[in-house]
Amino acid sequence: MLDNELIAAKRSVDDLAVFGGSPIFARPRSTSNLVRPNFDSFLEYSRLFFNEHRYTNGGPAVQLLEKRLADFHGVKHCVALANGFWTLVIAMRCLALPGRREVIMPSLTYRRLADVTAWAGFTPRFCEVDEHSLAISPDSAAACINSDTALLMGVHPIVNCCDVHGLEDVSERSGIPLLFDTVESNYETYLGVRVGGFGKAECFSLHASKLLNGFEGGYLTTNDDELAERVGYMRGFGFKGQDTVIDLGNNAKLNEVHASMALAALDDLPDQVRRNESRYRCYQRLLADIPELRLLEFDEREETSFKNIVVELRDSWPITRAATLRILNSEGVFARAYYAPALHQKKTSYETRFGDLSLTDKLVERFLNLPCGELVSLNDIEHTVLLLKFIRDHADAVGARI
Ligand SMILES: Cc1ncc(COP(=O)(O)O)c(C=O)c1O
Repeated sequence: MLDNELIAAKRSVDDLAVFGGSPIFARPRSTSNLVRPNFDSFLEYSRLFFNEHRYTNGGPAVQLLEKRLADFHGVKHCVALANGFWTLVIAMRCLALPGRREVIMPSLTYRRLADVTAWAGFTPRFCEVDEHSLAISPDSAAACINSDTALLMGVHPIVNCCDVHGLEDVSERSGIPLLFDTVESNYETYLGVRVGGFGKAECFSLHASKLLNGFEGGYLTTNDDELAERVGYMRGFGFKGQDTVIDLGNNAKLNEVHASMALAALDDLPDQVRRNESRYRCYQRLLADIPELRLLEFDEREETSFKNIVVELRDSWPITRAATLRILNSEGVFARAYYAPALHQKKTSYETRFGDLSLTDKLVERFLNLPCGELVSLNDIEHTVLLLKFIRDHADAVGARI
């Protein structure tokens, strides 16, 4: 039987994989992007470094990628690094106010952002998000500022942007530097301006699951000459020139193979956005028949990647999110709980600080990421949505058994 016939074959809850039936998808459909750019284009870029025997330490592919990304984001500088994690660590160390320890960030965000902060030697201070955008709220961020605040993190959520101007305002009024984590928003514009030049700097990832696939990788964009120069030293052992170490060193350089892949992915980007849009439109059309779920819509007044698919389980959705996820996952639909648990809810080996986060406590229970990316076809989406309808329509029987 074909994958896609299996949903039609489900007549009662006994046919659900969680109760012993056959899963709809033998190969799981995930939330990872896994973009595969043109192979010949990847090889062509690889020739740049291969012919010159330059495999790392800022060879021709990295230099070209930095130039192309700086142009794409409309900024003076792009510095490429080994991954998004160390891009953020190094940027935090460069930008934090001296003698202070706290970094303000939302709690409803990327699972490892607090670890980034700990590696950089600071203490995360978690703040509340905005109920509608799910992004860091400027008011809540402002309320967290105290005499120990070193840095403010503007973290974009995975659908649309955070309130960039609101946060810039908080930063200006308080004198606390603002660093953006733009890992989930490379392509977006904010009020018509492409991200990349906001705050003191912005940090990105080139991980295979992200919009631009460099296998692994990251980059920082900024208009600040000194910052770009310093990040450039810090990614490469702190060396300036041959033998002089002028700063705390690290090995966080992007290698040439990864840069070549990222260049090929950058060439493919406009096409990828079109493919993402067709998946998003398919979800949008089909989910309209399930009013118990609310699709988080992209703000189409801006340029947007249409990459991530997030739904809210409204109060009328008849079973718990945990039960919904169990059923979906066992069918090969690798949906995930959106940023759950929130950062303040986790045990950590380092200190964290926060006040009342009751809105985050509520929101963290309500959202799901649905499969998206290059390995998810429109047919897969149809069957995922049919499965969601099946769960809703058989909720009593499912609820009684699960
Ligand atoms: C918002 C956010 N910031 C930072 C990172 C870290 O990026 P990388 O995986 O390249 O280290 C991620 C990765 O998932 C992320 O989602």
